[in-house]
Amino acid sequence: HPRVVTTVAELQVAARALLEAAAGDDGTASLGLVPTMGALHEGHGRLIAQARAENDVVVVSDFVNPLQFNDPADYERYPRVLDDDVALAGQHGADLVFAPAESEVYPDGPPRVLLSAGTLGEKFEGAARPGHFDGMLTVVAKLLHYGQPDASTRASTRYRAYFGQKDAQQLAIVRRLVRDLGYPVEIRAVPIVRSARGLALSSRNQFLSEEQAEAALVLSRALFLMQERAAAREPLRPDDAVALVRSAPGVDLDYFEVVDPATLEPMAQNCAESPFVGDALVLVAATVGSVRLIDNLPITAG
Ligand code: PAJ
Repeated sequence: HPRVVTTVAELQVAARALLEAAAGDDGTASLGLVPTMGALHEGHGRLIAQARAENDVVVVSDFVNPLQFNDPADYERYPRVLDDDVALAGQHGADLVFAPAESEVYPDGPPRVLLSAGTLGEKFEGAARPGHFDGMLTVVAKLLHYGQPDASTRASTRYRAYFGQKDAQQLAIVRRLVRDLGYPVEIRAVPIVRSARGLALSSRNQFLSEEQAEAALVLSRALFLMQERAAAREPLRPDDAVALVRSAPGVDLDYFEVVDPATLEPMAQNCAESPFVGDALVLVAATVGSVRLIDNLPITAG
């Protein structure tokens, strides 16, 4: 079982001891940080497993960050199941689970200084959830600091952090954080894990009824339809995929867009006319019942 630590000081002492024990003859070691909000499922499991495969020491953080919830009801009902999380993290090889109280992360209450995700944080999920990405970015910045190997082992430690492609906009913003503000960490992206029938795993899926979960399958079907079109060398026109989503009962479509994978700028103009060549990302978001669902699919055609 992984060890559970709740303070930053404990985390740093424990991580340092593990790094020193893991350091080989050349004195180097590596640490992988997997930031999560808990309610872990096999999507998180994939991140942890990849971190395990690539690093000597694996730390999973488990903290429901109030700052990134724009809807208080969503924050209140967010599942908190630390014992289950520790078990799942252990199955996938985590060494440490960092599960701080809110007062450890925000000892002075809500921070007065926030990071801004800039224009990347204003569209898509940012438009639907004002403030979400600034709150996410602020806690990710703190978690990256907490997980950073301390000065005595820093020079000899590789530091990596793991993020899921599931939250494509979050991933793009975190990559910009690291580039734009010079964070000493390598960001590793992990593909989306889906249910056998195609639904992208999410901690919020448990709030879907059986009928709603069935209806929600239309989101990944619509994405895969786009992929078939690209494979058939057809233009990447979203009309049919959008119609498919709209035909599903109780699925309220927010956006369905073909974007540039790095900038998230819409690509509609240059891919809807002729056969698509290049890299694109198809993003979709919809509300089903009381649950906001997001999904996406990278498309490469050449
Ligand atoms: P959370 O929603 O718990 O997700 C933690 C990580 O798991 C994220 O990087 C997310 O993209 C990844 N993930 C979730 N479902 C996945 C799936 N089906 N397949 C692959 N990866 C998946 O994202 C957050 O927490 C928070 O915003 C956080 C970064 C921890 C900051 O609070």
